[in-house]
Amino acid sequence: MYVCVCNAVTERDIGSAVAEGCCSLRELREQLGVGACCGRCTKCARDVLHESLHACTPHRPTAARLQLAA
Ligand code: FES
Repeated sequence: MYVCVCNAVTERDIGSAVAEGCCSLRELREQLGVGACCGRCTKCARDVLHESLHACTPHRPTAARLQLAA
């Protein structure tokens, strides 16, 4: 599904960017142009970003987990 029509960015593009280390809307804008034109996609892009981050993080230590381990 297209998330950002202005820049032809799909959910898959956002998932790939997250897998490569992108972790904020600002970084998505810099890398993919999401939200850089009309801005109508910002909320949807944020939701997809959060879903992608959540899907990628179960095996990654988070700051909170690292604090608990210290
Ligand atoms: S739909 Fe993303 S900037 Fe317009």
